[in-house]
Amino acid sequence: MERLNKFIASSGYTSRRKADLLIINGKVKVNGKVIRELGVKVDSNDLVTVEGNVLKKEENKEYFLLNKPRGVITAVTDDLNRKTVVDLIDTDKRIYPVGRLDYDTTGALILTNDGELANLLMHPKNNIDKVYIAKVKGLIGKVEITKLERGVYIDGVKTSKAKARIRKYDKKSDSSIVELTIHEGRNHQVKKMFEAIGYEVVKLKREKISFLSVLDLKSGEYRQLNIKEVKKLYNDALNR
Ligand code: URA
Repeated sequence: MERLNKFIASSGYTSRRKADLLIINGKVKVNGKVIRELGVKVDSNDLVTVEGNVLKKEENKEYFLLNKPRGVITAVTDDLNRKTVVDLIDTDKRIYPVGRLDYDTTGALILTNDGELANLLMHPKNNIDKVYIAKVKGLIGKVEITKLERGVYIDGVKTSKAKARIRKYDKKSDSSIVELTIHEGRNHQVKKMFEAIGYEVVKLKREKISFLSVLDLKSGEYRQLNIKEVKKLYNDALNR
């Protein structure tokens, strides 16, 4: 436990003295409640916001962005001893994947040991955009795009509003490349959404989660997120 002003200062937001002023002026919330008294103590489990910005103190937390290759399972361990996404990352921390990509799906996957961020990113109400690039068999038209955008029924439940656009149609292979942006994370959601409109996904990549893209990472490559990116993810999730 440490004093709130020290916590704010050590996050790099401002000095302790200025933190005191912010507290007195009602600009600081702890777990959603405005705190105006000086001397309140907090620890790393408390969610502290200053002027609406989430403060995050780095406490042995690690955050990775992986460009998941095909043929790797999104799990921490596997009963069948198949390679997992965690095996691809060199760390001694107990990190785990945020959400799931199928065995044959590639692209952006966040791994962390920060359970709070993981929960925020996975909760559909926080509207975190996930951009998928799907290669589907056949020619997709405007009518199908509109259906995807308005929502389709999978397992009896309608998907929420999405954004979709055709990136290209390849005549030779008779396949369309479609960019689909969703914020839910239901099981096999993208494949099932296309199935619902009568199309089969033959290749699927998640290009982006929120503002994090894997375009600069080769397949199987990963990088650590910096504190600015982590804060931005928190803000994205909390300010929707
Ligand atoms: N939707 C799918 O169908 N598969 C994935 O891996 C991710 C989203």
